[in-house]
Amino acid sequence: MKGIILAGGAGTRLHPITLAISKQLLPVGDKPMIYYPLSVLMLAGVRDILIITTPAELPKFRQLLGDGSRLGINLSYAPQERPNGIADAFVIGADHIDGDAAGLVLGDNIFHGNSFSDVLEKESRNVSGCVLFGYPVQDPERYGVGETDEYGRLVSLEEKPAKPRSNRAITGLYFYDRTVVDIVKSIRPSQRGELEITDVNRAYLEQGRARLVDLGRGFAWLDTGTPEALLQAGQYVRTLEERQGVRIACLEEVALRMGFIDAEQCHRLGAEMANSGYGRYVMSIAGEWAQSPLPLPVPR
Ligand code: G1P
Repeated sequence: MKGIILAGGAGTRLHPITLAISKQLLPVGDKPMIYYPLSVLMLAGVRDILIITTPAELPKFRQLLGDGSRLGINLSYAPQERPNGIADAFVIGADHIDGDAAGLVLGDNIFHGNSFSDVLEKESRNVSGCVLFGYPVQDPERYGVGETDEYGRLVSLEEKPAKPRSNRAITGLYFYDRTVVDIVKSIRPSQRGELEITDVNRAYLEQGRARLVDLGRGFAWLDTGTPEALLQAGQYVRTLEERQGVRIACLEEVALRMGFIDAEQCHRLGAEMANSGYGRYVMSIAGEWAQSPLPLPVPR
């Protein structure tokens, strides 16, 4: 499976914070927002990832993450010239996907939950049709909303409905089989002139090939769209991190645990940031791993 992170958009609800910097580079807790969706793809075992962002912001993402080789992954970058919609990621990313299955995650979506890496590993394997992830929310009218039958097959899907038929929001993580690029070619821009991801998902639904996996109430899918939500997301992350002494979405740790890098490389990456708590955490994880790779709690 190939990965795509879509990190475009003007972030207008966060102005003036996002006038000079991309929303997905803002801090959530002690790390840039894009670390969270990137860690999701890495936990799914995806190592070949395209980051799509605005032409102006692209150099900053590259400065932050480079070509990924330090993390044992392969990162590439492509500009989205205009906000043409989420599904435009598959037009821009068609060569990158190159006939493979694809995992798309929105650059401002933060997921955290027990056993999430098991879910990711299972659902990203041998994808047939599409796999969407649903999360119960109080305000479903702000999102794509889905309903399923008793087998988890998607039976209805609406984008920001005035009267939602369920409280299950469709989160910004999508797994597709290799037909996704052709499906995107078959859809037309919506009234607002964008290629809508919901139209792609509806095409799979009409083929009877769309599944919705529920992320239950013990799970966190956090919003980062407003200053309050951004602050809350950071507080959530730091509260858990400080209480448990672990880090959420620490890319170096994920790379180590996934076997993408060894403990020596992990330690080196931490040592480069030894002035920060994050850097020291990376070094300590590398040290513990070198001594005994198994007994550590697995990050989810
Ligand atoms: C987009 C999708 C929507 C989905 C949401 C998740 O909405 O269109 O279906 O529920 O992402 O973050 P947007 O945030 O672009 O309004």
